[in-house]
Amino acid sequence: MKKIAVLLSGRGSNFISIKKKIDEGGINGEIAVVISNKADAKGLEFAREQGLNTVFVNPKEFDGREAYDRELVRILRENGVELVCLAGFMRIISPYFVSEFRNRILNIHPSLLPSFKGLDAQKQAFEYGVKFAGCTVHFVDEEMDHGSIILQAVVPVMQDDDDHSLSERILKEEHRIYPEAVALFCGDRLKVEGRKVFVI
Ligand code: GRF
Repeated sequence: MKKIAVLLSGRGSNFISIKKKIDEGGINGEIAVVISNKADAKGLEFAREQGLNTVFVNPKEFDGREAYDRELVRILRENGVELVCLAGFMRIISPYFVSEFRNRILNIHPSLLPSFKGLDAQKQAFEYGVKFAGCTVHFVDEEMDHGSIILQAVVPVMQDDDDHSLSERILKEEHRIYPEAVALFCGDRLKVEGRKVFVI
């Protein structure tokens, strides 16, 4: 059983999809802690209701990014965490944090990376006029939305879409591939060679 931490800032639908797969026995892991930088994050509330171990770490109490991340790493270590899942965690992770958990931090991004990095990726894709969009689960490295790609899913862009309907279509796929990637990691089935990730 691998100990998993989820870091989130918002509604937490990806967290819920991972939790669901754990509850169904589809992941050889358990949620050790849910951490948020937002006291009122819906995802944190849900975790609390589920009786999970939750921590709010207030950025205002820390002097800079690395000091904040040192506190996160301390909490992760205290809880014996082996896998960190960023699930709508709206902060950039410091190089210190990355180096402490190299190849053990996952993120989901709502675009087919390396296209449309950063905020509002679905809107960026929609406005660009792509015919296919999607989402990516990747390892986190020092650059934003850049680490080695684990899984991707593709969705079509329809003529009558707006960025909201496209986001919904992408989100459905996020809820499928993020738990799947977590299951692969927890089953020791991912082998990383540079930018390439092999499922073994
Ligand atoms: C998702 O679109 C995810 O791809 C992005 O942030 C959003 C989080 O949504 N990284 P939720 O909080 O998991 O519902």
